[in-house]
Amino acid sequence: MTIVQDRSTQLRTLRWGIVGTGRISDSVVADLAACQGTEIRTVHSRDAGKAADFAKKFADAGSTDSYEELLADPELDVVYIATPFATHYALTRDALLAGKHVLVEKPMAVTAGEVEKLFQIARERNLFLMEGMWMKFNPAFILLQEQIARDRIGAPRSLRAMFGMPFPQDGGSRWDVKRSGSTLLDQGIYPVTLAHTIFGVPESVYAAGTVRSDGLDLAEHFTLEYTDGRFAQCASSSQEFADLSGSISGTKGWIVLPGPFWSTTSIQIHAGSWQTIIHAPESVDLDREGNGYVPMLRAVNEAITAGLTEHPLHTAADTTAVFRTLDMIRSAILGGNSTVPKNRV
Ligand SMILES: NC(=O)c1ccc[n+]([C@@H]2O[C@H](COP(=O)([O-])OP(=O)(O)OC[C@H]3O[C@@H](n4cnc5c(N)ncnc54)[C@H](OP(=O)(O)O)[C@@H]3O)[C@@H](O)[C@H]2O)c1
Repeated sequence: MTIVQDRSTQLRTLRWGIVGTGRISDSVVADLAACQGTEIRTVHSRDAGKAADFAKKFADAGSTDSYEELLADPELDVVYIATPFATHYALTRDALLAGKHVLVEKPMAVTAGEVEKLFQIARERNLFLMEGMWMKFNPAFILLQEQIARDRIGAPRSLRAMFGMPFPQDGGSRWDVKRSGSTLLDQGIYPVTLAHTIFGVPESVYAAGTVRSDGLDLAEHFTLEYTDGRFAQCASSSQEFADLSGSISGTKGWIVLPGPFWSTTSIQIHAGSWQTIIHAPESVDLDREGNGYVPMLRAVNEAITAGLTEHPLHTAADTTAVFRTLDMIRSAILGGNSTVPKNRV
């Protein structure tokens, strides 16, 4: 895979529209504004005052409470969507139909079918589309893959990754099935994406979970099974902590991604002699750029400038495959597969 890496290349300035003014938008857009070759052109909020307040942080940024007006701007190149994920499909579709490139927060949509449709629209219009899966652009995540490719831990055989936190019951979108309710889509997407990156598409899935009476999955644990006995053991929860670290084990050692594994700035490599494998792992520390989103945003900017319609590090095929696995896990825990145990609360 070839990634555009020549930092000396003069980037054309891309004009970005921002949709949603919540906490994540705040962090990501601060990093976006710091990237070379970007201009925050317009901020959209459902509330005109909030849009104007957010826009004040960026020189010359305009604001609007009309999504149609944002998309009608012929000078706008790219839209960043950071809203509750049940809204992602329609907002992304409309932006693509208006001829804009799109970076949409994880999860890109709710089902694999929606994801496929969005990539089809993007392909037909020769537009860039990517899910904001920042983990895949994190230098520690890239180093992990380099170390595996260098045979440091031999052939990867098993993986463990969890994302569990007792989030406050604040009435936010994560607790509302109509807006974003799904712990699997919100948190479980990270371990599933990690497993897909290391092992590819699983042969089978075992999953069980805790589901609220209105269908919101509050917690789940799942095993993704691969040929030759390889497996990934994962969990996500909005109710309790589940150790946020991850690890990949192989025939010659293992690598730990300290928690939170999706945004870690270090890795621990248990490799070499028995002594170093077990008692003295090598620790590698890396810098974090901005709030951690800069590597992904820079890569998106470079890809769009280079005329790519998807990014080689997180392609349409990668994203769709992850959503197919998420669909399988969800159907198991929500009861579509009666052979999988489930709890109802
Ligand atoms: N990459 C990361 O590190 C990371 C971290 C956390 C969350 N996320 C993802 O970011 C997305 C947003 O999460 P969040 O926790 O920020 O969500 P949120 O706080 O519930 O909503 C974000 C913003 O979306 C707008 N919004 C709310 N409800 C809406 C609706 N029904 N229709 C259209 N817009 C609506 C609001 O902005 P206005 O009031 O201005 O319209 C709100 O501030 C999710 O997909 C989440 O998974 C990513």
